[in-house]
Amino acid sequence: KPLVFSGVQPTGNLTLGNYLGAIRKFVALQDSHECIYCVVDMHAITVWQDPADLMAATRSVAAAYLAAGIDPSKHIVFNQSRVVQHAELAWVFNCVARMGWLNRMTQFKEKAGKDRENASVGLFAYPNLMAADILVYRATHVPVGDDQKQHLELTRDIAQKFNNDYSDRIADLGLGVEMKVGEEVVNGYFPITEPIIEGPAARVMSLRDGTKKMSKSDPSDLSRINLTDEAEAIARKIRKAKTDPDALPSEVQGLEGRPEAANLVGIYAALNDMSREDVLRDFGGKQFSEFKPALADLAVAKLDPIAGEMRRLMADRSHIDQVLRDGGERASALAEPTMRDVRKIMGLLTN
Ligand code: TYM
Repeated sequence: KPLVFSGVQPTGNLTLGNYLGAIRKFVALQDSHECIYCVVDMHAITVWQDPADLMAATRSVAAAYLAAGIDPSKHIVFNQSRVVQHAELAWVFNCVARMGWLNRMTQFKEKAGKDRENASVGLFAYPNLMAADILVYRATHVPVGDDQKQHLELTRDIAQKFNNDYSDRIADLGLGVEMKVGEEVVNGYFPITEPIIEGPAARVMSLRDGTKKMSKSDPSDLSRINLTDEAEAIARKIRKAKTDPDALPSEVQGLEGRPEAANLVGIYAALNDMSREDVLRDFGGKQFSEFKPALADLAVAKLDPIAGEMRRLMADRSHIDQVLRDGGERASALAEPTMRDVRKIMGLLTN
């Protein structure tokens, strides 16, 4: 089975964007893939985190994974800092990736803001750690939301440069595998990872502004649905969501230039596992006053059980902690052989 890796940062509340763009896809891939799902606490500390909050948020993301339906007995669930090979390979990639590549990362520019001199070095090197997360397992498939696309392109560039720079050593040591890069068949050590981004919720937008991504860090809580919101809060936020005055179109093309309408239709489609065409077949010509209550009912029906299960799991930490410990051990056992190869390939003496 192909190997999937993905991660979520333990920073603040998880949103509907995290759920529809990522976690729900994680769940769906379990039957057809071998999966490793990580709580990326070392990515979180690229900006200041209160230690107690970080521990709680780490457990909370793990609880969300389980509550959404990830089975930790079949797949691996763990937090990143337990498996030190992530950091080790990230250092190697700090030496493979070029400053110019990282300078182009739009997420760094957004997160660092104007005061770039004061951003942590970790925030700048963040995508290298992300590449290490994936490649330390030589994972081939990575489900993410649209905002991570550029980081995954960088991951491919890093794998390719490593494979090129060390191609002779990789061949001499017999550590290469044949893989397709575009049309070409090449021999390399690290796979060229495929992102899994498609679907109607690859980019869930703010409920207050259809041109902005729904985000944990938006100052307005009305802009997002949190995975832990009560039913009443979910309904209220959808009721107050920004819209335009027109009825819903009956065709998807009619959503163009109507970002808020497009967002709500996309959310409905993703929550109900249908296409946007199907949603508009049911709601085309209807007013938001009719669509919003239907969306609110659907969102509550899908999210409330997850929130309930998260609360249940968080009430007794011992189960979550056991899952993370066990997952960490299994992940380490997969990551260490990769690092042994990498040290050998690069000439880092460890014998
Ligand atoms: P993070 O923690 O910001 O978000 C976790 C996942 O949720 C997706 N997402 C969204 N999808 C759709 N609409 C939205 N509004 C929305 N907001 C967030 C993100 O795309 C992501 O898939 N760098 C990553 C974490 C990471 C990672 C990795 C991911 C670290 N190492 C290795 C994949 C593979 C991040 O900050 O995600």
